[in-house]
Amino acid sequence: MKRIAVLASGNGSTLEAILMAIERGQIQNARVTLVNSDQEKAYALVRAEKYGIPWALFRKEDYPDRESYDRALLKRLQAEQIDLVVLAGFMRLVSPVLVAAFRNRMMNIHPSLLPAFPGTRGVADALAYGVKVTGCTVHFVDEGMDTGPIILQEALPVREDDTVESLTEKIHRIEHRLYPKAIDLWVRGKIKVEGRRCYLEQTETGAPERLG
Ligand code: GAR
Repeated sequence: MKRIAVLASGNGSTLEAILMAIERGQIQNARVTLVNSDQEKAYALVRAEKYGIPWALFRKEDYPDRESYDRALLKRLQAEQIDLVVLAGFMRLVSPVLVAAFRNRMMNIHPSLLPAFPGTRGVADALAYGVKVTGCTVHFVDEGMDTGPIILQEALPVREDDTVESLTEKIHRIEHRLYPKAIDLWVRGKIKVEGRRCYLEQTETGAPERLG
């Protein structure tokens, strides 16, 4: 049984999609055993409570810098024997101390087709740029901002009458399907990382197959 920690700063709809996928049996042999937020008002914590998942509140104000925050969080994640860290709308850059401890064991979801429009305003930035196609990306977390190896991506067209709200809603619907799929692949040991590229391990043919 893999132990998953979900880190979330906001509403937590992504967290809930993951919890529902586990309940439905779409992700097997894994449980979310900890939810952490950096924001005490995060609705994600209410959702954790609703599902009876233990939660923690590591507030950034309580630490002098990012590294000491991450060191404290790492200690907790290790104490809880966490196998996989899932960033679900966690609006903090993760420092190398945490990245190194969870190399290829920490995922993020981002609401754009990376490497386009990284950062905290992926949807608004894509819309303002005038792209005709956008989407979302699940990737492993490395030392950069939204730069790690890409696990899954899905595109969707931008309509002329789309607003940040309408596009966000459409992207969320895709994200809520894509993230559980990526987590399931990881839990089943199906993702092989070589440099920047992620492959789905194929036992029958022996040849790795591209994901997404
Ligand atoms: C998601 O759309 C996710 O892609 C985005 O935050 C949202 C969280 O929604 N993440 C980022 O922009 C990371 N840079 P939620 O709080 O309802 O789960």
